[in-house]
Amino acid sequence: MNILYKSEPERGRLWAERLKTLLPEATFRQWPDVGDPTKIDYLVAWQPPENLSDFTALKVLFSVGAGAEQFDYAALPPELPVVRMIEPGLTSGMVEYVTFAVLGLHREMPRYFQQQREKNWLAHASLPAARRRVGVMGVGKLGEAVLQPLLQLGFDCAGWSRTPKNIPGVASFVGEAQLGAFLARSDILICLLPLTAATENILNADLFSQLPPGASLVHAGRGKQLNHQHLLNALESGQLAAAVVDVTSPEPLPADHAFWRHPAIWLTPHIASQAQPESALTALLENIRRFERGEPMHGLVERERGY
Ligand code: NAP
Ligand code: GLV
Repeated sequence: MNILYKSEPERGRLWAERLKTLLPEATFRQWPDVGDPTKIDYLVAWQPPENLSDFTALKVLFSVGAGAEQFDYAALPPELPVVRMIEPGLTSGMVEYVTFAVLGLHREMPRYFQQQREKNWLAHASLPAARRRVGVMGVGKLGEAVLQPLLQLGFDCAGWSRTPKNIPGVASFVGEAQLGAFLARSDILICLLPLTAATENILNADLFSQLPPGASLVHAGRGKQLNHQHLLNALESGQLAAAVVDVTSPEPLPADHAFWRHPAIWLTPHIASQAQPESALTALLENIRRFERGEPMHGLVERERGY
């Protein structure tokens, strides 16, 4: 079995070492040491090599990330299975990030940090978590996981997805028809949607106008889902109070972009969650075993659905 890895070199070195004991029969190659491309069975990458058509025996393309929307599907063989990364380390990272962001917004930390800069000692009335309505857009692997600590903290939680969900304590809203009702009850809106034709530019002025006045945003999906100017306008008008933004388009933002210095925006460089080398390798090997046994792999992308 021949595996080609094309991503962060340090993780590749660690995987190469681990595989010697975990899967000694495998040959693990790290880009650009491809060898004979016609011998590669599995490719693990954020982006495939440009000469992918030379990889005539390729069985599966594994994304190193939770998302697989970065691939140009038109350039991939139509039958090639594409699998995204589902692994507990990546999920935990997102749980930490979203919990941090929701608590920061719930306790109005952007406002208090701005007051600190102004040397302004001023307390505002606080709301209990039970009266703060949190809405999660995208109730998949990550959305469902982030809801658990929020429920435990007592937030009033809802989710929005394409298909109905049955998560105890979480109101389920489905599809375009229920988007307005979902938004109207989201004081803190969290975006964990995959990037598809339907979700591109979804965080726009029309959507912001349907949130309760003074709502906040946590954006940890994909950059192209957020209209930057519409977010700035919504913050300027007070329709939105604050935003925690982890993903933008482009990444990184240009040096003169307004997000860098905006007092009501916490900007992070696409670090909400990252696959953890050890647990990601376990997940990858489990999927390879499943594929070789003819069993369904975890995280198989449904191309016609777009995620
Ligand atoms: P997932 O398991 O595929 O879940 C996606 C969810 O979005 C599902 O609940 C799906 O609905 C819903 N959805 C998709 N299209 C929709 C639409 N048009 N309308 C309503 N709901 C829609 O994905 P995941 O593993 O949770 O990851 C979600 C995304 O997080 C990734 O695609 C990636 O973009 C992002 N991400 C970001 C970071 C970061 O560091 N910032 C890290 C990892 C992942 P159904 O359940 O009904 O299918
Ligand atoms: C990061 O954004 C990922 O998709 O894992």
